[in-house]
Amino acid sequence: MAYRPSLVLPFSPILLLLFPLSAPAAEEPATCLACHQDQAGVLDTRHGTAGDPDSPAGSGRACSACHGTNDAHPDDPRGNPFPVRFTRGTVPAREQTGACMECHGGNRHLAFWESGRHARNDVRCNDCHAVHAPPPRGSAVAFTRRDPSAAPFVNTGRELEYETCIRCHKRVRIEIGKPSHHPVVEGKVACSSCHNPHGAQSPGMIRHETLNVQCWSCHADKRGPFLFQHPAVEENCLSCHSPHGSSHTKLLNERVPNLCQDCHDWSRHPGTAYSADQGFERIPGSPARSANTRFVARSCLNCHNAIHGSNAPATRGKYLTR
Ligand code: HEC
Ligand code: HEC
Ligand code: HEC
Ligand code: HEC
Ligand code: HEC
Ligand code: HEC
Ligand code: HEC
Ligand code: HEC
Ligand code: HEC
Ligand code: HEC
Repeated sequence: MAYRPSLVLPFSPILLLLFPLSAPAAEEPATCLACHQDQAGVLDTRHGTAGDPDSPAGSGRACSACHGTNDAHPDDPRGNPFPVRFTRGTVPAREQTGACMECHGGNRHLAFWESGRHARNDVRCNDCHAVHAPPPRGSAVAFTRRDPSAAPFVNTGRELEYETCIRCHKRVRIEIGKPSHHPVVEGKVACSSCHNPHGAQSPGMIRHETLNVQCWSCHADKRGPFLFQHPAVEENCLSCHSPHGSSHTKLLNERVPNLCQDCHDWSRHPGTAYSADQGFERIPGSPARSANTRFVARSCLNCHNAIHGSNAPATRGKYLTR
């Protein structure tokens, strides 16, 4: 902030005389920027669009639309800090958010803000949005990132939204770095592809009404309907998959066969690993005469490869086999 009292203070009473109650439209930013030159960037954003009557600048309240008014402030800034200061701890989160919601309350994406986990945990709009900075090239929105990292998997300078989220969500940060993961760090999928950060009524603030519908929105081939469904799949994709990342292939919660054995204890063929006849592999000289097909290679998936459902006829379909 550039505060030059010697230069500015003598002039401010004169300004107040000229514009008695509140500074008229065009003068507001000038008055404020006399001391707050560093904040001029806001005039280059959508909020600074003079032609848009809904924007702070267009409404003639380039600064006060968000910060409110405080006529005594320019004369004695320290004694009269602004009504809405967006620094954490000075003003309740709800009040800070309220300043934004005055204009954005009607946005349908923000319809469930109040009931969302973010609002209820005092996360504020400006924890994610950097409103004083124009969006970087190629992005629609400017985000806050405390320590911008060079994204390792993209070769553009594009800011990726997830970097804002993982500042707070450390556990998810670990998950999206696991060997099998949704390509978030690669920039192909964003956190907001699945979540509405502005709040949603669904568990986990996911965008769609149910979890499976969320997954189907991209993986339409898993939707069916299939002649033979696998009830576990119809019920919840997360019975077998982790949404963010996993150390097992294909985002699986566990490795096969353990995964299947959580639910399938005993079937027409035993779920046990070894018998007198069969071992993990065929070892010359050992009593086991062959490798157990249920555990080598892709294990249960060697045969049950239509795991999400099958349209094959008869028993092949019924038992989800190839
Ligand atoms: C005479 C110089 C001067 C003028 C004119 C001025 N300010 Fe300030 N402003 C300051 C100073 C100095 C501070 C720091 C006060 C402090 O440290 O508590 C400040 C603080 C602020 C803050 C709080 C920043 C924070 O840390 O949260 C806001 C917001 C603000 N000013 C907005 C405005 C707006 C809007 C206007 C125009 C209506 C304006 N100021 C006009 C000098 C000025
Ligand atoms: C769209 C709402 C909005 C508008 C319009 C706006 N501000 Fe801000 N201002 C904020 C928010 C939010 C912050 C908190 C820091 C951040 O998120 O960038 C902030 C921070 C500040 C600060 C503290 C800066 C710091 O580094 O701590 C000052 C001073 C300030 N604004 C002055 C101004 C002035 C002067 C104008 C008009 C030219 C203005 N603001 C217009 C929302 C706004
Ligand atoms: C005086 C009304 C007004 C206030 C107050 C206001 N905005 Fe806006 N905002 C607008 C308008 C108008 C637009 C441009 C049209 C749109 O995208 O809806 C906009 C656009 C945005 C965008 C879209 C990105 C962009 O730059 O186009 C974001 C993000 C945003 N505002 C966040 C905020 C936040 C955070 C606050 C509070 C700190 C805030 N706004 C306060 C009117 C306002
Ligand atoms: C947890 C982070 C986060 C918080 C908190 C947050 N936003 Fe956003 N916002 C985003 C992301 C991510 C996008 C871009 C993706 C999208 O549209 O959902 C966005 C987009 C927007 C847009 C432009 C999108 C559009 O199509 O309208 C506006 C306006 C906006 N936010 C306003 C707000 C306001 C106002 C608040 C506070 C009430 C707020 N945001 C709080 C993350 C956040
Ligand atoms: C300033 C810190 C902060 C930022 C930044 C942030 N969050 Fe959050 N988020 C929280 C807090 C606090 C909670 C509530 C506690 C919890 O569930 O962990 C939460 C909860 C959530 C939840 C859980 C909802 C539930 O019902 O369990 C989701 C999903 C989420 N955030 C997504 C995001 C996304 C996406 C972004 C980036 C666009 C983001 N968050 C950015 C702090 C943050
Ligand atoms: C492919 C879709 C998808 C993507 C991409 C995604 N999530 Fe999630 N996330 C989910 C699902 C599904 C849940 C579980 C919801 C439930 O419990 O019903 C979840 C749960 C969460 C939760 C709450 C439970 C927990 O694990 O702590 C948070 C917080 C969260 N996600 C944050 C994020 C963040 C941050 C990002 C981006 C780095 C992200 N998510 C990307 C689908 C996704
Ligand atoms: C926004 C679109 C989108 C949504 C929603 C989505 N995915 Fe994905 N998913 C992808 C993309 C993109 C890939 C990577 C495909 C590739 O690399 O070929 C992927 C890959 C996968 C993979 C394979 C991972 C691997 O290691 O090969 C699984 C399993 C998966 N998703 C399950 C899910 C589940 C379960 C959900 C619901 C919680 C879901 N997806 C929601 C886009 C999405
Ligand atoms: C009963 C456990 C189970 C459930 C439930 C399940 N999957 Fe899978 N999924 C698997 C297994 C096992 C694989 C690995 C298949 C392979 O390697 O051939 C897989 C692989 C995938 C893949 C990557 C490979 C491919 O076939 O495209 C995607 C995407 C996927 N699942 C999406 C989903 C979606 C979406 C749902 C919910 C509608 C879901 N899964 C429910 C077990 C399950
Ligand atoms: C969350 C529990 C769950 C998991 C995990 C699970 N299944 Fe299932 N599976 C079921 C249920 C429930 C049925 C329906 C059983 C019935 O209709 O009697 C079923 C049916 C089947 C069927 C058809 C059997 C029949 O009688 O119709 C096969 C084959 C099958 N599962 C194989 C697998 C394989 C292979 C895996 C591991 C990749 C697996 N399942 C993981 C719950 C699960
Ligand atoms: C070598 C191929 C093969 C492998 C490997 C295999 N299955 Fe099967 N499975 C079948 C066939 C074929 C059927 C149909 C049985 C019949 O027609 O008698 C079947 C039937 C089933 C059934 C439905 C019948 C019942 O008794 O409920 C389940 C459940 C099942 N398998 C689970 C598994 C699990 C779990 C694994 C991994 C531990 C596995 N299968 C490995 C070939 C295989």
